[in-house]
Amino acid sequence: MRPKLLLTLLAFFFLNPHSQSQPQPLVPPVTQGFTCNPNRTRTRCQAYALYRASPPNFLDLASIADLFSVSRLMISKPTNISDPSAPLLPNQLLFVPITCSCNAINSTLAISSANLDYTIKSGDTFWFVSTDHFQNLTTYQSVEIVNPTLVPTKLEVGDSVIFPIFCRCPDQTQKSNQVNFMVSYVFQPSDTLSRLASTFGVSAKSISDVNGNSIKPLDTIFIPVNRLPVLPDSSNSSRNSSSPPPPPPLPPPSFVDKERKGLIRGLAIGVGVCGGFLVLLIGFGVYREVALRKRGGDEEEEKQKREFFVGKGLKEMEASLMADVSECLDKYRVFKIDELRDATDGFSDDCLIEGSVYKGEIDGVQYAIKKMKWNAREELKILQKVNHGNLVQLEGFCIDPQEANCYLVYEHIQNGSLHSWLHTDDKRRRELSWKSRVRIAIDVANGLQYIHEHTRPRVVHKDIKSSNILLDANMRAKIANFGLAKSGCNAITMHIVGTQGYIAPEYLVDGVVSTKMDVFAFGVVLLELVSGREAVDEEGNVLWGEAGGIAMEGGGKSPSPEGRKLEKVRSWVDEALMEESYSIESVVNVVTVAAACVQRDPVKRPSMVDVVYALCRSDELFFDVSEEGLNNPNVTAR
Ligand SMILES: *[C@@H]1O[C@H](CO)[C@@H](O)[C@H](O)[C@H]1NC(C)=O
Ligand SMILES: *[C@@H]1O[C@H](CO)[C@@H](O)[C@H](O)[C@H]1NC(C)=O
Ligand SMILES: *[C@@H]1O[C@H](CO)[C@@H](O)[C@H](O)[C@H]1NC(C)=O
Ligand SMILES: *[C@@H]1O[C@H](CO)[C@@H](O)[C@H](O)[C@H]1NC(C)=O
Ligand SMILES: *[C@@H]1O[C@H](CO)[C@@H](O)[C@H](O)[C@H]1NC(C)=O
Ligand SMILES: *[C@@H]1O[C@H](CO)[C@@H](O)[C@H](O)[C@H]1NC(C)=O
Repeated sequence: MRPKLLLTLLAFFFLNPHSQSQPQPLVPPVTQGFTCNPNRTRTRCQAYALYRASPPNFLDLASIADLFSVSRLMISKPTNISDPSAPLLPNQLLFVPITCSCNAINSTLAISSANLDYTIKSGDTFWFVSTDHFQNLTTYQSVEIVNPTLVPTKLEVGDSVIFPIFCRCPDQTQKSNQVNFMVSYVFQPSDTLSRLASTFGVSAKSISDVNGNSIKPLDTIFIPVNRLPVLPDSSNSSRNSSSPPPPPPLPPPSFVDKERKGLIRGLAIGVGVCGGFLVLLIGFGVYREVALRKRGGDEEEEKQKREFFVGKGLKEMEASLMADVSECLDKYRVFKIDELRDATDGFSDDCLIEGSVYKGEIDGVQYAIKKMKWNAREELKILQKVNHGNLVQLEGFCIDPQEANCYLVYEHIQNGSLHSWLHTDDKRRRELSWKSRVRIAIDVANGLQYIHEHTRPRVVHKDIKSSNILLDANMRAKIANFGLAKSGCNAITMHIVGTQGYIAPEYLVDGVVSTKMDVFAFGVVLLELVSGREAVDEEGNVLWGEAGGIAMEGGGKSPSPEGRKLEKVRSWVDEALMEESYSIESVVNVVTVAAACVQRDPVKRPSMVDVVYALCRSDELFFDVSEEGLNNPNVTAR
């Protein structure tokens, strides 16, 4: 596995074409029509946004998936692209899944949107990101409304901003007319209503019923569909995209009754599968309960318990089924146990990645397959809620009732764990430049910020360590293994889990579970990135024990405290980094962040929001200093 790592990485850093000043047109706020009833903020549905691949930054699925915090597969599947890693054509149309909900702004105003997190980069404005990156699927005025604490003229790099992608959920009437999804679509100057209708296989009237009759170019409109249309396949024929504009819309049939029935049947099967999954889980709950009871021997009680479980389970199932069905149908693939067996040579050791995680290829796509027992449920519950480019994405699952095993199937992350890069092989460690280390730190921090700040209830990972951080083909980091994660915060537990060297003192002593324990473990990962050393050395000394001393001035020969601090940091930096240029200011900044994270008192530790902000500063610092470091002869592709 010799990736095109560093070049891609460098490209990422330097192809940032945003110019500083963008015109700010004075248009009245465009939130009319995207508002929803604030009394109904619990409405939630699966929706899609139609996105056009566009050069230079959004011409591959990975960067578009990152922008929308989904996996590549979640776009390639509804769009019917067979190879998710192939480059896209300019203007190629894509269906990007979004979760639409009604989000209250205040007591009278709520906006129907999918709220996406975006981290401000140099040159970004609300206007620029809305019109360019998000292609007018939102407006800067709405961005201002949903981010009331941010001052649009005072954005700083690293600020986390919510971009509300406009969307709509079908109402009862629409649902009864077989509308399953609303596709958010930006009306193009060249579009006509009738052509659009035929592209999506719906009537022009159904579009104007939803959007009114005064649709203007660049308005976001909602197209009610029964199912997603097949977009023209441009992977093959029109490689010659020199002059021809977007691929022509396909002419799909409008709804025929027969087709509709097929669809309903398909939906029913889907519901059945999801439901079946729940039944199985619940069924096994009963089974286990019964097995435990057997020992007690009270048969009557056992029977009652069983009935109770089944009754309760069914009710719960029905409720959660109604809520989850659309997401479940679209988001996950249900694998057959035989598929998994074939893919992994019957779970042979050759396919073992580590622990109980196997690598396997199904239909030409690589997956990481984790074999579990009943503990899968908690992880599944959490993974269903989270959705972020810096978290390893769950792609599907499988139940094997015969062996009472449950399998979670994730995207396979090509370059393995950060631990393996830092601690198993000197050559690999040398390949990990300072720049990519900072990038990895920021990626992980973003993923953690997401689970800490943007999930309800909050999720605590509880097992952040370098071996749970995976690196993809572009050396971007993703957090893996939510096996120990907990939703809900500030709980006390008696059952201490985690990994020596990363465990926060308050958790070890009192069992306090909070987001601050992830902050602590993240601080340890930062120290590993800087020093290239393991979290615990051979003698059992923890790395974080040294952090305080490093970050503080004192000792050394230099006359000034600052100078002494620099001296100390220099002597501590991974010697694999010496060969290339890095800015010592950037390193000092990261060490300072790390030291703050590993403070004993959890209250004094920063939040991940602060950490992301501070790390992005390191990124900038590096940027300023060592342009020439880029011509490092070690940096080669393939
Ligand atoms: C929301 O509910 C409140 C009282 O429960 C009611 O006064 C208000 O009119 C409702 N708003 C809408 C838009 O229905
Ligand atoms: C997806 O595209 C392939 C060709 O790439 C085509 O054979 C297949 O019918 C398409 N699937 C659907 C659902 O249209
Ligand atoms: C709600 O927010 C909107 C947009 O910020 C504002 O125009 C409106 O006055 C607010 N309403 C209340 C009751 O605060
Ligand atoms: C979005 O709208 C602006 C005008 O408001 C336009 O300049 C820009 O090209 C549009 N972006 C896209 C991707 O269509
Ligand atoms: C794709 O290319 C192959 C040969 O390269 C050709 O046989 C096939 O017809 C093409 N498909 C489309 C949809 O153009
Ligand atoms: C690309 O376009 C040129 C000229 O328009 C044509 O000669 C060539 O065959 C095209 N190539 C493909 C792969 O379609």
